[in-house]
Amino acid sequence: MKSGVAALNAPLVGSAGSRSLLETPALLLDATAFEANIRILADLAAANGLGLRPHAKTHKCAGIAQRQMAAGALGIACAKPGELLALFDADVNKLMLTAPVASRLKIDRLAAAAARGADLTVVVDRVELVAAYGAAAREAGGRIAVLVDCDTGLGRTGVAEPEAAVALARAIRSEDCLVYAGIQAYAGHVQHVFGLEERRVANRAANERLKTIITALRAAGLAPAVVSGGGTGSHLLDFEDKLLTEVQAGSYVFMDEAYRPVDLHGTGADIFEFALLVAVTVIGHSASGEAITDGGTKSFAVDGPPPRAFLDGRELGLILWAGDEFGRLKTHPGIAPPPAGTRIECTVPHCDPTVNLHDAIHLVRGDALEAIWPIEGRGRSD
Ligand SMILES: Cc1ncc(COP(=O)(O)O)c(C=O)c1O
Repeated sequence: MKSGVAALNAPLVGSAGSRSLLETPALLLDATAFEANIRILADLAAANGLGLRPHAKTHKCAGIAQRQMAAGALGIACAKPGELLALFDADVNKLMLTAPVASRLKIDRLAAAAARGADLTVVVDRVELVAAYGAAAREAGGRIAVLVDCDTGLGRTGVAEPEAAVALARAIRSEDCLVYAGIQAYAGHVQHVFGLEERRVANRAANERLKTIITALRAAGLAPAVVSGGGTGSHLLDFEDKLLTEVQAGSYVFMDEAYRPVDLHGTGADIFEFALLVAVTVIGHSASGEAITDGGTKSFAVDGPPPRAFLDGRELGLILWAGDEFGRLKTHPGIAPPPAGTRIECTVPHCDPTVNLHDAIHLVRGDALEAIWPIEGRGRSD
């Protein structure tokens, strides 16, 4: 059942010209750009002989996960148990939880999903967590694949010392209902380094640390079959180095202003298209004549550079904030503020938390609204 702006827009699905008639603020996904993004990364991964495990913390949406799987993804990564379980309930399987958990109730829920048929992989950073997953899987009657979470410089979760990784791998092996699958090493600190060369240096430094961990595991007879990590920023370098077996890119599917200055392939060109947009409407004008829109910080996450605003493909200017509910269009020189009632499409500062502000994605193709997809994992930070 659709509610909010999705319910207002539902009657427009399938009708020509409906894109410019949408009630707003509405989260849009440009189907052509989105499909191109999925294809570009899938083709690159295949050409380099590496796997892709797209990260659903970006989209939280089963419709998108299914299209990534159809394009050859090995599975879908999730940040939190709630996000993962929401996707499992929406018929997405092959799910990997990329962060440790410190709640027995959540561990039990995950183990129950595994017993109900979820193809589940989790990560661990301490022996107590191995024991908790082992006990939960045994009690639920399921099996869980487990990766050792390694820190190669991000400084978030994971073990940094090779000996600790070996001890965790041994602990996983000792549990009947757990399967030692390999390691995770997400170099998050590398992803937004702007220049390709600077990013290459940072990624190689992380990989040097990763190599010592892999070497120690091999020496202990625990060679990791899976080495999972990487992201949109490092994908080309990860394909080059081939130390990871799979890349967990998330933002590539949408793109946002935070990633725009990152020169992904060292060509200065945008590699992925801006597929995610927020449509807003000009509701009036300030005393100084600026167009005021109906989308503020409740429609856009603002932890990134300001959105660019487009009308019929032409860039009008930038959206600055005029409160929780409103935006202020700062037009480029020579561009007149559009009249009240004008629908404007805006890029987003940061895609992941922007998606989390909306109930549904409006899939648009050309000038038409093609479908409305629920965002099943929206709000599931549990
Ligand atoms: C565990 C993990 N893997 C991969 C990513 C890569 O995401 P992106 O491609 O959006 O940079 C992230 C980003 O936060 C992450 O936390």
